[in-house]
Amino acid sequence: MKTILITGGAGFIGSHVVRLFVTKYPEYQIYNLDKLTYAGNLANLTDIENEPNYTFIKGDITDAGFLNDMFAEIPFDGVIHLAAESHVDRSITDPMSFVMTNVVGTVNLLNAAKTAWAGNFEGKRFYHVSTDEVYGSLHNPEDFFTEETPYDPQSPYSASKAASDHFVRAYGNTYKLPVVLSNCSNNYGPNHFPEKLIPLMIHNIQTSKPLPVYGKGENVRDWLYVVDHARAIDTVFHKGKLGDTYNIGGFNEWKNIDLVNLLCSIMDRKLGRPEGTSTQLITYVTDRAGHDLRYAIDAHKIMNELGWQPSLQFEQGLEKTVDWFLANQEWLDNVTSGAYQKYYEGMYANR
Ligand code: NAD
Ligand code: DAU
Repeated sequence: MKTILITGGAGFIGSHVVRLFVTKYPEYQIYNLDKLTYAGNLANLTDIENEPNYTFIKGDITDAGFLNDMFAEIPFDGVIHLAAESHVDRSITDPMSFVMTNVVGTVNLLNAAKTAWAGNFEGKRFYHVSTDEVYGSLHNPEDFFTEETPYDPQSPYSASKAASDHFVRAYGNTYKLPVVLSNCSNNYGPNHFPEKLIPLMIHNIQTSKPLPVYGKGENVRDWLYVVDHARAIDTVFHKGKLGDTYNIGGFNEWKNIDLVNLLCSIMDRKLGRPEGTSTQLITYVTDRAGHDLRYAIDAHKIMNELGWQPSLQFEQGLEKTVDWFLANQEWLDNVTSGAYQKYYEGMYANR
């Protein structure tokens, strides 16, 4: 049996990874460790919360003592580390919380695994889930981020993720900890927190609020359906070569303004509004400080070496996403009102 710790499993991507592992591998014991910050929401996991191979633990990865106790108590074979502060705009106003969780938290987790595994690394694996933002910004339209692209992080968020990646590799090199990493492009899909572009736009179109497009809307992002990222994480965790890094992306670049226009058109159709209604809500606002121009992932390594590929075309994925948000109004209302944080109040003691 495999006993696996997934950190950040109550968040957007983590909840899809937890669901995939709990349902696909009934023989594994899956532990979801999450602090339940504003971004953690156990409502993301109600469909699997009573499965016999699933356990939720509330805890903070910045607390080294707590992590060491937990690793001493539970014989983890693998770690899939997703817990992080993830929003670039928040990193601009509060960089230190990104240093604490993304850097210090990751090093605490590396230390806890290293101590618990005590040099006996047979069958063990520490998987760090990271972002394409560590590579900086592309300016030449023919360029893509490969696994060899030098790190050049530009925001406090990406600097903290780059630092955590370096620590993971350093533990692999120095202590021979069995590590593997992946760097993924922008995800979208169900459970996406409505501070991020796509769910924010869906919510604002629904409620006829302004659609804030930063700068001229010309920045480019490479979008991947979140379930395809979860499938890629499953692939890298099981088949990835130790010490290696895999870039994950959908070869799916969109200028922000084109994406917002497409969303407006889908939403007008779904809400029965005349075409062109929602685009009138588009409002150009002050640009994000240090806004990276373009991200684009070359995902050939994971596709060729591990056989992963995305399953959904973007238009299909976006339709599915809009349908999910429209069908899960209660989830969105609870998140936007803050009620979701009361959902689990008193249910879990801090460990
Ligand atoms: P998210 O913000 O939705 O979720 C993060 C989760 O981590 C939350 O449940 C939160 O409660 C938990 N958490 C935060 N601080 C914690 C702490 N100190 N201790 C324990 N738990 C804590 O993030 P996401 O978008 O799901 O991203 C997950 C991971 O994937 C992150 O590491 C992120 O850098 C990476 N990533 C995200 C994207 C994307 O497009 N969202 C793309 C590539 C990589
Ligand atoms: O590339 C992977 C990264 O993608 C992840 O590592 C991050 O965790 C994730 O948040 C995401 O970062 P971005 O900054 O690209 O995502 P966000 O949804 O915040 O913004 C997407 C683009 O849209 C970006 O160019 C900024 C722009 N934007 C965003 C918001 C919230 C707007 O124009 N208006 C907005 O209101």
